[in-house]
Amino acid sequence: LPNMGPDMYTCKKHAVVPPYSTVVSCCPPLPTRPIKDFKFEDQTLPMRVRRPAHKVDAAYIEKYNRAYRLMRALPQDDPRSFHQQSNIHCAYCGFGFKQLGINVTLEMHGTWLTFPFHRWYIYFHERILASLLNDSSFALPFWNWDSMMEPERPSQIPEYFYTMPALVDPLRNPRHRTPAVPDLSTDLTGRSPMDIKNATLEEVIESNNNLLYQTVVSGATLPSLFLGKPLRGGVEKTSLGASAFEVGPHGAIHGWVGDPAQPNGEDMVHLYSAARDPIFYAHHANCDRMWCDWKNLPGGKRTGFEDDPDWMESQLLFYDENADLIRVKIKDSLDIVKLRYTYEEVDNPWAHHDS
Ligand code: C2O
Repeated sequence: LPNMGPDMYTCKKHAVVPPYSTVVSCCPPLPTRPIKDFKFEDQTLPMRVRRPAHKVDAAYIEKYNRAYRLMRALPQDDPRSFHQQSNIHCAYCGFGFKQLGINVTLEMHGTWLTFPFHRWYIYFHERILASLLNDSSFALPFWNWDSMMEPERPSQIPEYFYTMPALVDPLRNPRHRTPAVPDLSTDLTGRSPMDIKNATLEEVIESNNNLLYQTVVSGATLPSLFLGKPLRGGVEKTSLGASAFEVGPHGAIHGWVGDPAQPNGEDMVHLYSAARDPIFYAHHANCDRMWCDWKNLPGGKRTGFEDDPDWMESQLLFYDENADLIRVKIKDSLDIVKLRYTYEEVDNPWAHHDS
């Protein structure tokens, strides 16, 4: 069976939130109008081009900051507010919801829903930002954390995440401000074998490229090896179905950004708080881009689960820029051109890193 998505009316305020967490409720506001089925936008709209975060210019940075300032200024019970946008992650990814019509919880991570869920999530997030700016071409940047190439070192956290007020999150690991380079061997507790052995920058870069090569290229030749294992509708998530990319490099970024001095590595480490950091959306734009690039790599069967109706017909709910609640299906997320966004091309140094 396909996953029928969340039942908005069974949301538990404190799904799975850890001790010392600072959350009042993860639940979204209830819809005041009937749920609408997703329709593709006008296909003549301009493409929203997602550019690498290290390459954007001052005018873009100003706009990007303004978008989050406007989003943060919305009332907390507005589903488009930053507060509610970040709580989406808390509700969906902490067993906050029951699946529609049945007494079974819903969880996105470590399943074949992970990638499409995050795609839809930032898709609507981006549309809301664009509408707040009144600029339908506005696109999120992607944080190109997988590229360690000199001289730009795209993987470093761009300085404007520390200087532009609406893009700042005070709960980050203070040691990881530029010139630090993400260490993809980091785990969710912030522990890193490379750090422990005092690795040099060259060794960290080598280890990152190896990890990326293994988790995206050589070890990800089947859909389940990259996207995660099937979790059918009506089934409680119990076992681990995450791909090596999800627990590895993707998770490492969460572990590397969050503040180890906080009780749960807030914000980026824990599911309930991760999306309170604006960099979360730029991180997931990059994961989404890597999904696109993974599909185009040679060898293996690098597709989705297109022949499995349980995946294709699985449903999720998101509020759009008009505060309408929209019902989407995985199958409508697979062609990003139809979603009217695209990625500026960058070189993936790890893709030819056979070692
Ligand atoms: Cu929903 Cu990067 O996690």
